[in-house]
Amino acid sequence: MSQLPYEIQPDRLDVVRLAQVTDSHIFGDPAGSLLGLNTRNSFSVVCERLLKEEWRPDALLTTGDLSQDASPESYQYLADYFKSMSIPTFWLPGNHDNPELMDLYLNNQIVLSDKLILLGGWLVIMLDSSVKGKVHGEISDSQLAFLEASLKQYSDKHCLVCLHHQPIDVKSEWLDRIGLANEVKLRNIVDSHVNVKGVLWGHVHQEFSREINGVRWLASPSSCVQFKPGSKDFCAGVESPGYRYLNLHADGRIETVVHRIDNIKFTVDYSIKGY
Ligand SMILES: [Fe+2]
Repeated sequence: MSQLPYEIQPDRLDVVRLAQVTDSHIFGDPAGSLLGLNTRNSFSVVCERLLKEEWRPDALLTTGDLSQDASPESYQYLADYFKSMSIPTFWLPGNHDNPELMDLYLNNQIVLSDKLILLGGWLVIMLDSSVKGKVHGEISDSQLAFLEASLKQYSDKHCLVCLHHQPIDVKSEWLDRIGLANEVKLRNIVDSHVNVKGVLWGHVHQEFSREINGVRWLASPSSCVQFKPGSKDFCAGVESPGYRYLNLHADGRIETVVHRIDNIKFTVDYSIKGY
């Protein structure tokens, strides 16, 4: 079960810098739009903003729904784009993705399919919560075993656990019906390992942050369409696309901020009642 981690030497010893870009929903067709929003356009604007950060991240995490249509063309576009950013990029699949195609296309010198990433005193664990043909998520027994074994093996490291589906309710009824089906199993493992400092996901297309027993539980905006927080039924949010930046400190603290693209008008068709 144990696998060797991909090792990155952070720029500094006292802090690991990460960025999360999630739910890009890229289409094979460059003109592809979600609720009227061209997802390649918003993704590239978000990434350009990220590249202007004062401190370049040591790694980029992409947490699922990278593609909307799971087409080879969408993954080729993403592979080329991430390569052009020159930041080591790691991915995990969401409900819209095809993990086999991702393995094939998102796998070059800079876009990496590794699921354990060692950065100084921190370990990042990338889990697959996707279920073929389903919108909701579930963590398989083998993924749970992988998580538990990694947390035990690296008990001397602070750990950030990443997945696509939300492992705790975000209080949007329609989204919480399609979250992680066996979230209690994941939460039990997190609760029983003091080295877990944060859990990070996508899927909900909105910012979310809770601290429970010293663990940060974080969700982030999509790089395209947003979902309105607290909605009973599907409803697009009026917030702009964005990404999350994280500083992982040597003492185990996580400092994090969400950046949105506020100086550009994005067109979203709010009359559409589903996605
Ligand atoms: Fe999504």
